Amino acid sequence: MEITALGYIGINSSQIDQWSQMATGLLGMQQVDRGGKMRAFRMDDRKQRLIVDGSSDAGLAMMGWEVPSTAELDQLAGRLESHGVQVVRGSRALADERHVTELITFADPTGNRLEAFCKPELAAESFKPGRPISGFRTGALGMGHVVLNVEDVERLLPFYRDVLGFHVSDFGLKPYGLYFFHVNGRHHSFAMVGSGRKALHHFMVELGSLDDVGQGYDLAQMDEGRVAYTLGRHTNDHMTSFYVNTPSDFFIEYGWGGRVIDPETWKPHETFDGPSLWGHERLYMPEEQRKRLRDMRLDAAARGVRVADPRVPPLNCAWLDSVIARE
Ligand SMILES: [Fe+2]
Repeated sequence: MEITALGYIGINSSQIDQWSQMATGLLGMQQVDRGGKMRAFRMDDRKQRLIVDGSSDAGLAMMGWEVPSTAELDQLAGRLESHGVQVVRGSRALADERHVTELITFADPTGNRLEAFCKPELAAESFKPGRPISGFRTGALGMGHVVLNVEDVERLLPFYRDVLGFHVSDFGLKPYGLYFFHVNGRHHSFAMVGSGRKALHHFMVELGSLDDVGQGYDLAQMDEGRVAYTLGRHTNDHMTSFYVNTPSDFFIEYGWGGRVIDPETWKPHETFDGPSLWGHERLYMPEEQRKRLRDMRLDAAARGVRVADPRVPPLNCAWLDSVIARE
């Protein structure tokens, strides 16, 4: 299939000054002025990754999905049309605004706007983070992931899986449908939560260092009401992260250490362990719902569910013990 990465995200929010402050001062993105009520933010060598349009408070404006070439863009457009999806070729003006060579626009069956593009423009100047971070993990893995609240997962599954060609990483069915999809080695670039409402749940950006996340966590905690989920680790993509409340009605996940899978050999499967191995206490949630999630974490912990960390040598390593003994 053609789509290889999440390229950019656009949101509509009238709170552009608060967005600028948070994106630069907390997240460490670089602001690029686009004039009027438009703000764009860099995360790497691309001219923009996050676009904030102050003309409304509609939330998610679009997701920009990357394909490698014009031929693949045409192929994707053809398949969408053969499934009855209306595809509009992006004008030169829109391509310039997105800083890509070519793009198409279309919508999913519930009206979320998607764009597919090829050949993004690179900036002449190197990326200057808004605070001293090591950088964002993007490249072939894309800018991060998007998780949507949807009314009915079953209604959207055929579109994202069979028409767009997203690959299911894993899924949960209780208490409601929850599907994770990959388009490259990132465990998921897209997910849907069948929560019964239609809105962006969060998007995630991944940092180059755990310290970037920890230092961001300190900053977030100094800002009353900013932290939405405490520091924790996700069960399926192994991301160590916290979530912040944004000036809009959704969260941003700020993470490190996400799992990279091999899409060639990966088998989709159902998961039962709950979303987090530890932490991720959802501070905004009523106690009853928090308790349900906490019980799932405690249950996983009691069963010894954990992730081996390849960066840390194993305990009781015979080789290491013999070296230490010799010294
Ligand atoms: Fe996430």
